[in-house]
Formats: sequence, C-alpha cells, structure tokens
Amino acid sequence: MSLVNHINFINLSTVILAIESSCDETSASLCADGKILSNYIANQKVHEQYGGVVPELASRAHMQNIVPVVEAAMRDTGYSMQDIDAIAFTQSPGLIGSLLVGSQFAKSLSLALNKPLIAVHHMQAHVLANLIDEPRPSFPFLCLTVSGGHTQIVLCESPTKMKVIGETIDDAAGEAFDKSAKLLGLPYPGGPLIDKYAKEGDPERFKFPEPQIPGLDFSFSGLKTSILYFLQNAGKSHVYKEEFAASTEEKQRFITENLNDICASIQHRIVSILLNKLKKASIETGINDICIAGGVSANSGLRKAFEETGKKYHWNTFIPAFQYCTDNAAMIAITGYYKYLDGDVADLSVSATARAEW
Ligand code: KG4
Ligand code: ZN
Repeated sequence: MSLVNHINFINLSTVILAIESSCDETSASLCADGKILSNYIANQKVHEQYGGVVPELASRAHMQNIVPVVEAAMRDTGYSMQDIDAIAFTQSPGLIGSLLVGSQFAKSLSLALNKPLIAVHHMQAHVLANLIDEPRPSFPFLCLTVSGGHTQIVLCESPTKMKVIGETIDDAAGEAFDKSAKLLGLPYPGGPLIDKYAKEGDPERFKFPEPQIPGLDFSFSGLKTSILYFLQNAGKSHVYKEEFAASTEEKQRFITENLNDICASIQHRIVSILLNKLKKASIETGINDICIAGGVSANSGLRKAFEETGKKYHWNTFIPAFQYCTDNAAMIAITGYYKYLDGDVADLSVSATARAEW
C-alpha cells in the first residue's frame, strides 16, 4: 500500500468519501468541497505471474484491502466518518466481482452511517480527473480517455453532462500496449515497460501501419496483428509471408537486439493514431480546450506529443497529475462531489454492473 497523495484541509463543508475497486487497484479518497485530501491506492502484485488480471484473485485482494485502505484515507484528514456527506463508489464498468466488493462496502457504510450513496461511472471519473487540480479546462472541452479497456473521445459540456463522440471498434489503446508487450515477452502490465524502453529507442526505425477508420472511431487490432507478423518474421515484413518465417532463436535475438527501437516505433504509432483522431475531433467541434485521461495518459510519449500538438494547433491542453491518470479513488471523489451538488444520489437498491452505457 502506498501513500500517493495526502494534503490536509479542514473546515470545508461538503465531504465525500470515495471508493474505487473496478479492476486491480483498491483505492479510497476523501474530498472536501472539491479538494482532494487523501488518495490511497493498494496495488495488487498477485497478477504479475499470470500475465493479466485474474478476476477471482482481484476480488479476494479487494476484500483484504478495502478496510485498511478506507481507514488510511480517513486518517490525518481532520475528518471522522460522521463528517461525511455522501459515499461515492464505482458502479461500472469493470470486473463484476471487484465492483461488488467496493459497492457492497459502500452500501454497508451508507446504511450504518445513514448517509447517501453516489454511483459513479468509472470512465466519466477518468475524464473529471482533469478537474482535480488547477489549471482546469473550460466547458465545453474534449477529453481523449485512454485506459486498459476503453479508448474514447468525450465531449464534456458540464461535470455531469458528457457524451462519447468517438471510440475504439476493437482493442483499447492500453490493450494495444499490453498485448504488444506480451508479444515481446514483457510481463503484465506491459504499457509502462514499453514506455520505459521507448525512451532509449528510435521511433522512426520501424514503420507500423496506421488504420483508416472513418469518423472519430479507433481501431488497434490491425496494429497488433502486424506486430505479431513483424516479430514472427524477425523484422523482415509486417504481413504474413512463409519465406520470412524466423526460428524461435532468430526471433528472440531480433527482439533482444532491437527492443528499444521496437518499443519506440510501436509507441509512436499508437500515439499518432490517438492524436490524429483528436485533431479531427477538435476541427469538427471547434473546441480547443482539450484533455487526456486514463491509464495510458501516464505514457511519456503521449504526454509529450499531446503537448506539442497542442502548441501547434493552439489548444489549451490539460493532463491530470500522474497519480490521477491510472485507476484511483480521487477521480471518483471529484465526480461524486459534482453529482452530489446536482442532487444525483442513489438509494440502497443500486447495484454494480460490469458494463453501462452513458
Ligand atoms: O485507467 P487504467 O489504470 O485502468 C483501466 O481502467 O483500464 O489503465 C490501465 C492501462 C493498462 O493497459 C496499462 O498498461 C496502461 O494503462 N498504462 C500505460 C502506462 N501506464 C499505464 N500504457 C503506456 N504507458 C504507460 N506509462
Ligand atoms: Zn480506469
């Protein structure tokens, strides 16, 4: 368990306790009048050996973590449980067993304390992570939300009114990173490792194809296939050709000798796919306040290219602080705060769902 962020504020009035448990991070946050006072995140190491998140193990780890994480989020904030105005929790989307742990905990607390519940959509919360710190975007703004399960361009008209104007038709950007990393023999989650090796590599060395998808939608499955063939052919071709098929040793040697350049080239292509659609969205909507959010917005190549694109096209660019990009309860707290101000509270019949439209 790590203390990710902790600031002490007292004498503020609307106090929200938030719980996030949609995937493999158990997190709790306390927020007062829209200011984040604490944000504790317990990461689950147990999945590393399996090459991906094992849902049953994630639920069990949430069960172990949730009480200490909530206690840690309350500690040293100057507030007690009685001071809380509402309890926000991630209702969807996510792994259903993981969501159930957080939602049942929130419901029990709501019943015991007689405080209202606020059901939060995880992807909306990623977008609103951009409202946590100054400077904040003005409405309406666009947000490119890139995570392990989603890739979306969201038009945000107010903290509680937003719509998806483009999204992936197959893999998410985070999956593209993680699946590419797996093909390279790197452990899960591979996104941060591709980021690390890419820093030392040449992004122009290998050219991966850019898919031609109409409108503002994305596709990453073709890129994954071309990387698969590229590695099977030890770099000789992106398409399947029997005469180029390399032996296991040749393939491994090619990866070992060129890892940095391969990672930089993969990252370069994922980033260009994302930013080309974002440019299109800005032109079509005429909106120049533009944010990024979600786990992949922690990627240093995306952050840099996003800032450079913003300068070139005169955008006002916003990126959440690093600790608010990957899954965290602070973003659930800020979303819960705005929903509370809107009177959007839930009753005890509310239940977690693995998928939800918005
Ligand atoms: O938002 P998030 O923490 O969880 C979901 O809601 O899915 O996103 C997790 C995703 C994973 O695919 C992970 O590999 C990716 O974000 N990710 C990164 C980086 N940090 C996290 N991808 C590329 N570069 C990074 N630095
Ligand atoms: Zn997420």
